[in-house]
Amino acid sequence: MTNDTHNNVIIACDFSSAAELFSFLSQFGDSRPYLKIGMELFYAEGPQIVQRLKSLGFPIFLDLKLHDIPNTVKKAMSVLSRLDIDMCNLHAAGTIDMMRAAVEGLTRADGSRPLLLAVTQLTSTSQERMNKELLIGGDIKDVVSHYALNAKQAGLDGVVCSPLESTIVKQTCGQKFLTVTPGVRFADSQTNDQVRITTPAMARQLGSDYIVVGRPITAAQNPHEAYIRCLKEFNNIQ
Ligand code: C5P
Repeated sequence: MTNDTHNNVIIACDFSSAAELFSFLSQFGDSRPYLKIGMELFYAEGPQIVQRLKSLGFPIFLDLKLHDIPNTVKKAMSVLSRLDIDMCNLHAAGTIDMMRAAVEGLTRADGSRPLLLAVTQLTSTSQERMNKELLIGGDIKDVVSHYALNAKQAGLDGVVCSPLESTIVKQTCGQKFLTVTPGVRFADSQTNDQVRITTPAMARQLGSDYIVVGRPITAAQNPHEAYIRCLKEFNNIQ
């Protein structure tokens, strides 16, 4: 099996330097898994890290979660789009206007653009904190599906959410609206600091289109083997 046909397991590359990242990737031979580059690595190494990975053929989800006034986000997205990334994201809390501006900024002269996802409520935000600290009333699931609907209205492709929220997002926004879900663990692996977790197989059953997996792969004794196991379980391949 090659991962060209099923490139739907995104490895969260939470490393602090390019040296650490490339030492990790050296264990993958010729395979080119989808990689998530977050703030830590991007701020440490700059856009060059993305350009280098793209030139080697890795699909990239750039996880910078933009949130600012519409004009600023539009301009920033236009810069990110030139990096030829495949997927990026923003906070839905920035409003529909901000999300529309982001789509405009991302769209290249030939009409193509990277996939754009919205973060609805961070999985680190509890129901209680959302209500009492952020003064957003109601049930967190309703807020997640409402923000997802706003994202759809603005022309985005999907949301980043917990696998446990995939079903409600699909019910609200339709099956084609993408759900990209972190919080995935093998049945026999450590949960670390993640609380609301599912296995790769369960994430698929709940409707996730892509899963984001960090430590179960990056901290495994054999990361490539763990990655292949994840691909097989998520895609139901024996
Ligand atoms: O190591 P682990 O599998 O927990 O990594 C999950 C990745 O997904 C991390 O990069 C984390 O920052 C990210 N993430 C998350 N929950 C969210 C959004 C992003 O765990 N709601």
